[in-house]
Amino acid sequence: MKTRILSVRDDGIDAVSAAFSEVIESGGIAAFPTETVYGLGGNGLLASAAAKIYAAKGRPSDNPLILHIGKEEQLFPLIAEMTAEAEALIRAFWPGPLTLIFQKSEIVPRETTGGLNTVAVRMPSDPTAHRLLMDCALPVAAPSANISGRPSPTSFRHVKEDLFGRADLLIDGGDSAIGLESTILDLSGQVPTLLRPGFITLEKLQAVIGEVQEDPVIRPEHIIAGIPADFRPKAPGMKYRHYAPKAPLTVVRGSAAAVAEALNRIADEDTGILTSEEHAALFQKGRVLTVGRLKDPESIAHALFSTLRRFDELGVHRIYSEDFTEADIGTAVMNRLLKAAGGSVADAETL
Ligand code: TXA
Ligand code: MG
Repeated sequence: MKTRILSVRDDGIDAVSAAFSEVIESGGIAAFPTETVYGLGGNGLLASAAAKIYAAKGRPSDNPLILHIGKEEQLFPLIAEMTAEAEALIRAFWPGPLTLIFQKSEIVPRETTGGLNTVAVRMPSDPTAHRLLMDCALPVAAPSANISGRPSPTSFRHVKEDLFGRADLLIDGGDSAIGLESTILDLSGQVPTLLRPGFITLEKLQAVIGEVQEDPVIRPEHIIAGIPADFRPKAPGMKYRHYAPKAPLTVVRGSAAAVAEALNRIADEDTGILTSEEHAALFQKGRVLTVGRLKDPESIAHALFSTLRRFDELGVHRIYSEDFTEADIGTAVMNRLLKAAGGSVADAETL
């Protein structure tokens, strides 16, 4: 497939937005930046656009897509019913990195929702995404713009690596501000349920609507124990191995000194070590990459996926990571890191 590339900086937002609308409205697919990660978009009301997205990513088609909108009025035709909780959350967090799940209306094809009766919707805050979605008359179905299973793309270079030749248009809008996918909250059942942790934390959601429960599959202990093959998580995407670098990854638990002692003993030049800037000096062996500062957890969220991809480029055979705190955005960081590790953890003492 012929892929066109446009950059917001070089080509200007007007030209980029016109090209984006043209691709979406004619049934094509286009990658675009958002504040979380890059998305691969298509017409959210057209079954054949969803099929193109699944094919380009190599993604199982039972894994539903999120619809992206630019204006609140675009939400109502997509959903069966608006609730007071949804209104409060939208007022507090949209535009922004929060995806809400509703009972869907008739106009949303089941091909887009992976066969479900519900639909996920979000309104990105990234200025480029917001402008593209305001100008486009259609809701845009968009998963992360990576080949299925790889870390989500947080810079244009990653998008090009994965999707050149597989999409009609790739839009360069610079690096993603947050670097981890949106928080997903399911409002379609009795109790609002967190299906994927993100920048908008459980505590922030509870502060607005009170009771929110967590889907058990997002808890670290469940990722480590593994989800049984016959279990059906509410967010179908959560059952797949995700975000993974090419080399096997293990999260090492213990004090920084114990982790460094163990890895200085077993690491060689083919071993990747993922650590914080504060702890980097403790490691004397292996290919050490820092992922941000412990005292600034958002910097770790921002760099996590790009650092996992960097290990692929270095060609390491094995990766070990330190364990990051689970406070605030750290919950989402550890969720992605443990999923990238396929639940593999080890204690520094026994390594
Ligand atoms: O930040 C984001 O959300 C990014 C950017 C591009 O907006 N998108 C993204 O999409 O992460 P994707 O497809 O990589 O992840 C969507 C997740 C999947 O785990 C999927 O199973 C879940 O959302 N999901 C989508 N619709 C759902 C629904 N109706 N019910 C339950 N889970 C749903
Ligand atoms: Mg994804």
